[in-house]
Amino acid sequence: AHLRTTAPDPFAIVKDELETVSERLRRSVLTEVPVLSRAASYFFQLGVEGKRLRPTMLLLMASSLSSVVPSTAFLAVDESPPDQHPKECRRRQQRIAEITEMIHVASLLHDDVIDNSDSRRGLAALNTVLGNKTAILAGDFLLARASITLASLRNVEVIQLLSQVIEDLVSGEILQMTTSPDQLVSLDHYVRKTFFKTASLMANSCKAIAILGGQPVEVSKLAWDYGRNLGLAFQLVDDLLDFTGSTKSLGKPALNDLEAGLATAPVLFAAEEHPQLRPMILRKFAEPGDVQLAQQLVFDSQGLDKTRSFAAHHAQQAADVIDAFPPASTEHAQKCREGLMAITSRVLSRTK
Ligand code: FPP
Ligand code: MG
Ligand code: MG
Repeated sequence: AHLRTTAPDPFAIVKDELETVSERLRRSVLTEVPVLSRAASYFFQLGVEGKRLRPTMLLLMASSLSSVVPSTAFLAVDESPPDQHPKECRRRQQRIAEITEMIHVASLLHDDVIDNSDSRRGLAALNTVLGNKTAILAGDFLLARASITLASLRNVEVIQLLSQVIEDLVSGEILQMTTSPDQLVSLDHYVRKTFFKTASLMANSCKAIAILGGQPVEVSKLAWDYGRNLGLAFQLVDDLLDFTGSTKSLGKPALNDLEAGLATAPVLFAAEEHPQLRPMILRKFAEPGDVQLAQQLVFDSQGLDKTRSFAAHHAQQAADVIDAFPPASTEHAQKCREGLMAITSRVLSRTK
């Protein structure tokens, strides 16, 4: 398949259902405890929902593999309690989109504490508004609510997949902060860490969608592959934007990775050309002037181009997976597949 940046707009295809998912998310993170409600709702407020890449991907995946076009009945917000088993397949798949977004936001709340970040989605990071302790507890609360909703699906395999994601997020973060000297300069290690940190959530949630859609093992494996490759491409571009974007355009601090001592793909590729980067990587850019020099060396190398090509490779793999799906059974399913293809090229061309 050729990646196209033109139509269809993947977000437009699922726009109305995405609103339904966002509205249910807003309602499902409320609690009797006022501060907790405020904290947990912070990134679900209207206009602060972010790109909603994950729910979009998941709703498109659901339709791509379905033989029915979702009826408008599914656009009404499901008012049933989060612990009640939804009867219809589409409702269960919508809940996977909610759970995935809750886990994602929980990880961001924790991440901004760990990284001591002060902005996210163009907003003050929650840790700077309500403090680290409340931000951590709000993240825990979101994981708890996600678990309740997950249990309501009464599907052990799906519960395992999404629980594995939480383990992987934690493993990825720990791997990132406890890397040995050999691993610091290893691209393989970077890819492994990136799978845990970013791709596992996309891979396993896509697979959960396929399983709940009653797909056979081979197809749910393909859905997993799509999410894995999209996730790797997404994070590679994220690491690229950390160099090329601005704090204003990103809505979060730029040049954050070097400042935090992290050698991401652009630096690892640049080190192949400029060996003087290696000792700097090993000491985590801790000496005065390291960050500036490393940045200069990255710009003065193929590091950014190689990172872009590596991301493009994974985006292409993701698109190839869509081509390997069994024939689409409706026109709508075909359109949603094109939407999934379009997401892969948008992940590459995004600037925030
Ligand atoms: C963003 O990365 C962070 C992640 C993708 C995952 C963070 C995971 C944890 C903090 C472990 C705890 C997990 C849970 C489920 C509560 P980044 O810091 O490189 O990117 P950024 O620029 O968006 O901050
Ligand atoms: Mg961070
Ligand atoms: Mg981080």
